[in-house]
Amino acid sequence: MENKIIYIPMKLIAVLLGLSYCLSAQNPHLKEVVKFPLGASVNPRMLNENEAYRKIAKEEWTSLTAENHMKMMLIHPAADRFDFSKGDEIVAFAEKNGKRMHGHTLVWHNQVPPWMKDFQGDQKAWEAMLKNHIQTVVSHYKGKIVGWDVVNESFLDDGSMRPSLWADHIPDYIAKSFQWAHEADPNAILFYNDYGQDGKPKKMQAILDLVADLKRRGIPIHGLGLQMHINFVSKRNELQEVLDKSVATGLKIHLSELDIAVNQKNNPNFVYEEKVASEQAELYKFVFQSYIKIPTTQQYGITFWNISDKDSWLRGYFKRPKEYPLLFDENYSKKPAYTELTNSLNKLN
Ligand code: XIL
Repeated sequence: MENKIIYIPMKLIAVLLGLSYCLSAQNPHLKEVVKFPLGASVNPRMLNENEAYRKIAKEEWTSLTAENHMKMMLIHPAADRFDFSKGDEIVAFAEKNGKRMHGHTLVWHNQVPPWMKDFQGDQKAWEAMLKNHIQTVVSHYKGKIVGWDVVNESFLDDGSMRPSLWADHIPDYIAKSFQWAHEADPNAILFYNDYGQDGKPKKMQAILDLVADLKRRGIPIHGLGLQMHINFVSKRNELQEVLDKSVATGLKIHLSELDIAVNQKNNPNFVYEEKVASEQAELYKFVFQSYIKIPTTQQYGITFWNISDKDSWLRGYFKRPKEYPLLFDENYSKKPAYTELTNSLNKLN
C-alpha cells in the first residue's frame, strides 16, 4: 500500500515534467533556438514604467543596447559634465539580469549636444575634445560594456564621406576614434556601424575600403555593425551580398538595429494585412537563416531596434503611426512572425 502511494505521485510528476518539457520544446523562446547573443535596444524610462516591456527585456534577450542614453547628446550634455545616470541604469538592469551590454555610440553626426556644435578651436583642440569624450565614456564602462559602436554612419550612399562636425574638423577622425577607444579599454570589441548598404554598392565598398585601410595601418577594428533597418520588400540577393562581403573581412558581424518596415511610405490608411505580415515573417526567417550560416566566431549577435511595434523608433522618429516592424505587437504579445521564425530555426537545430 505504502509503495503504491509513493508510486502514483512519482508517475504523475514524471508525466507532468514530460509534458512541460514537450510544451517548452514546442514553444521555445527565440533566444533558445539561436547560439549567438540576441538583443534589443532599450529605454530606461520604459524599463521602469512598463511591466510588459520589462518582462520581454528580461525574458527574451541575452544582450542589450541603449537606444539613446549613451549618445553624445545625453551622456555629455555640457563641456565639463557627463551624465551617466541613465546609461548606468541600463547597465545595472543588464548586470542584474545577466545580459551582455553593447555600447552605442561614441561618434556620430547626429544627436550631438549644442555645446559641441558651438565648439571653437583649432584641429588640436577638436581632437582633444573628441578624445576626452571617447575615453571618458569608454573608461566609465570599462569591463561592463563588451563592445562599442565607435563610429556610426560615416558614409553617404555614394560612398563619399558624410560631412559632419567630425569630418570637418578632424582629419582621419575614424581611425583616431578607434585608437582612442582602444587605449581606454583594450578588451572592448570595436565596431564600425552603418545602415542601408544593400543596393548601395558604393557605400558598401567605402566601408570595406575603410576596414582594409584600418587593418593595413594596424588600427584596432574588430567588428562591423550592419544596422539592418530594412523593409519587407528589401531584396534578398542584395542583403546576402552585404552579409557575404562583410563576413569576408573576417571581422565580427553584428546585425545591430534590425527591424523590417512594412509602411515605408507612411500611408495613413495602411492596414497590416496577413499577406504583408507573412512576407515580413519570411524576410525575418531569411535574415536569421543567413546569419546562422556565417562562422560562429564572427557571430557577435542580432539586436532588434526597440521591443514592440508600439515603441519602434519608426513610429516615433519618422512619425509613422501605422508601422509594424518588430516581433511584438502593441500589447507586447508575440506576433505570428515571432513564432514562425522561432519554429523554423528550431527545426534546423
Ligand atoms: C534613433 C532612436 O531610436 C531615436 O529614439 C532617436 O530619436 C534617433 O536615433 N541609427 C542609429 C540609431 O544608429 O542610434 C538611431 O536611433 C536609429 C538609426
